[in-house]
Amino acid sequence: MESIATINELRAKLRAARREIEKTKLESTVGFMPTLGYMHEGHMSLIRQARRECDIVVVSIFVNPLQFGQNEDFDKYPRNTERDLQLAAEAGADFVFVPSVKEMYPTPIKTSVVVKQITDVLCGASRPGHFEGVATVVSKLFQIVQPDRAYFGMKDAQQVAVIEQFTTDLNMPVHIVRCETLREPDGLAMSSRNVYLNEEERKQALVLSESLGKVAGWVAEQGMTMERLERNIRVTIEAASLARIDYVEIRTYPGLDAVTSMDQWNGSEPILVALAVKFGSTRLIDNRIFFS
Ligand code: PAJ
Repeated sequence: MESIATINELRAKLRAARREIEKTKLESTVGFMPTLGYMHEGHMSLIRQARRECDIVVVSIFVNPLQFGQNEDFDKYPRNTERDLQLAAEAGADFVFVPSVKEMYPTPIKTSVVVKQITDVLCGASRPGHFEGVATVVSKLFQIVQPDRAYFGMKDAQQVAVIEQFTTDLNMPVHIVRCETLREPDGLAMSSRNVYLNEEERKQALVLSESLGKVAGWVAEQGMTMERLERNIRVTIEAASLARIDYVEIRTYPGLDAVTSMDQWNGSEPILVALAVKFGSTRLIDNRIFFS
């Protein structure tokens, strides 16, 4: 595995790697998995999947300043590049792209990728500009890596919807692969931000996955309404004394339209139940998709 810091070098290495493969195969496939680093098993499962499905696997590690708000954790976002490189190698990456901020943004950027509507809700509502920063950096990374397949985790279901939307709208020749959420043995969704939780917060953070686990049972109850379903989820989360709910929302997926009636739940579209909950200053998200 090679770690590469510049765009020019990565492009040259990828061209050579593709040529090598195409000596024995008609076409080569590049799989790409972008990250902010501070990897955990969730990240590694995406890299492993790319390894199984592609000839060449590229991972990027870049804490993208564009997607962090003024009062967010850009400066203190956890970083450990040495360890990340080891984990990426273990999971089967061929190239890890580790650019500096200067390499990615040599001059102030005047172009950005704005996805409408679906970025106004859920995390987009509480993190203005976040998805514009994500869509812009992912577009840049796609231009740099030119992957055939790109791997994204459904833990960030809205991010997947946003990426599918702009790649479709802009005819980008990349297939977006939705990957399942990896969880700790007790159910907590793995996240780089879990390291911020103290012991008590970590214990109480289980209410996210626990409440999602109860949704199917509640939906099957006679006379259940959307209001009651949402209230049941809220009450379950609020039983944890340290939990502060940012949102509990029930929406179609990937269109992210509000679901207001049980008839809609029983319709033809998949339904997303999405949660964002703060423990102290740490904001955790989790979700589940239900197919009717
Ligand atoms: P980051 O938070 O590092 O996540 C990188 C990828 O790993 C994302 O696709 C995310 O959904 C996935 N992931 C995170 N936790 C996961 C889990 N428990 N199970 C499965 N997959 C998981 O998301 C970003 O970085 C950035 O916004 C990025 C797309 C890199 C753009 O900067």
